Amino acid sequence: MTMSYPIHRKINTIPSDLVSLDDYERLAIDFMPSPVYEYIRSGGGDETTLKQNRSAFSKISLYGRILVDFEQATTKTELLGQKFRHPVLLAPVAHQGLVHCEGEIATSEAAHAMETGLITSTLASKELEHIAEKTDSPKWFQLYFQSNRAETLALVRRAETAGYSALIVTLDVPINGLRNHIQRSGFQLPANLQSIQPSSRNLPPKELTPEQSIIFQGIMSEAPGWQDIHWLQEQTQLPLVIKGITHPQDARMAIDAGVKGIVVSNHGGRGLDSLPATIELLPIIRKAVGDDFTLLLDGGIRRGTDVFKALALGADAVLVGRPQVYALAIAGALGVAHMLKVLRHELEVTMALCGCPTLADINSDCLFSGV
Ligand SMILES: Cc1cc2nc3c(=O)[nH]c(=O)nc-3n(C[C@H](O)[C@H](O)[C@H](O)COP(=O)(O)O)c2cc1C
Repeated sequence: MTMSYPIHRKINTIPSDLVSLDDYERLAIDFMPSPVYEYIRSGGGDETTLKQNRSAFSKISLYGRILVDFEQATTKTELLGQKFRHPVLLAPVAHQGLVHCEGEIATSEAAHAMETGLITSTLASKELEHIAEKTDSPKWFQLYFQSNRAETLALVRRAETAGYSALIVTLDVPINGLRNHIQRSGFQLPANLQSIQPSSRNLPPKELTPEQSIIFQGIMSEAPGWQDIHWLQEQTQLPLVIKGITHPQDARMAIDAGVKGIVVSNHGGRGLDSLPATIELLPIIRKAVGDDFTLLLDGGIRRGTDVFKALALGADAVLVGRPQVYALAIAGALGVAHMLKVLRHELEVTMALCGCPTLADINSDCLFSGV
C-alpha cells in the first residue's frame, strides 16, 4: 500500500514548561499522527518489560554527600579508546523520517552541537554518509545483518568510508516481538521510508512445506549465528559491539568471540516481553564480563539520576532511544539538542549532590541499599 503520514510543523523556541524528557514524551503526541506515536512509544506484548525498564530505576535510591570539591569535575570519558564529552549516546532509532523531513540528519546536527555520540541505524531514513557528515562527535554505525554476506559487507564498507568508528551489531530481534499495540493502531511503514540503505531483510518469505513453521524454518533460518560474528571480525578493523545481550552466558560468548563491547538492551521493551529491566540485568552482566570490558546500557533512561544509577551498577555509558524521536518531532535539531542538554544538566546535578566529581567516582557505594 502506498501511503505516508503528514509531518507536523515544528516549534522553533523551547517553551518554558519543556524541562524534562518525560515532558517531551507527553507533548510529542500533539506533533505526530497517533499511529506514528504508537509505533514509537509502544513495547512488545503487554508492555511488561517496557514498564519495568522505567519502574526498576525508581526502586533504586542514592546516597547524597556534602562538602565535596567540584573545581576539577567533569563528565568526560573514553569508550573503545574514543573520547566522549559525556556518557550518554543517541541510540540507533529507525525511520526518523516519520517525524521530521530531515530525520537523522537533524539528529546528527544535534549530536554535533551537544558533543554527543551518535549511533546511526541500518534502517535510517537518510543515507548513512549524509548523517555522518553532520557531526564531528564520535559516530558509530548500527548494523543489521542482511540476508547475504555481500550486502552486509557493502554496508560495512560504506560505514567505514563515511567515518563511523565502531559497528554496533544488533542481535536481539532476529524476529520482531509481538507488536500488538502497533497492530491495533493500524500503523504501516510508508514505502518511501522502508530504508534508504538497500536492505535484503524484507525479502518475501521462502516457500515452506505445511509441516514447517514460518517462525522456525522461515524467519529464524535467515537469522545470523556466532559464525557470522567471527566472519564479520575478519572483514573489518572497526571494533564490534553487540547490542541486545540480556544473558550473562551470551556476554561471555561475545567476549570469547572477540567483540570489544556489549550493550545490555532489551530493545526498549520492543522485543521479548517479560525480559527483566536492563538495569536489573546490569550487575550480573558486569560480573560476567569483568571490570575492564566496555559495557553500555539502554532502556528507560529518562533522568540524570538514571544515567548515574546505571554507571553506579557497572555501565560505562548509556544510550537514549525514544526521547530523541519525540524531541525531533517537536522541535527538530533544536529539540534533540535541548533534550540532550537537559539530560547532561541532570547528570551533573546528580553528580554534584552525590559527591562524585568524575565518572570514576560513581560506584555501588553511591547506592543506598537499605538498613
Ligand atoms: C521507534 C524505535 C526504533 C528503533 N530502531 C532500532 C534500530 O533500528 N536498531 C536498533 O538496534 N535498535 C532500535 N531501537 C531500539 C533502541 O536502539 C534502544 O535500544 C531503545 O529505544 C532504548 O530504550 P528507550 O527508548 O527506553 O531509551 C528502536 C527503538 C524505537 C523506540
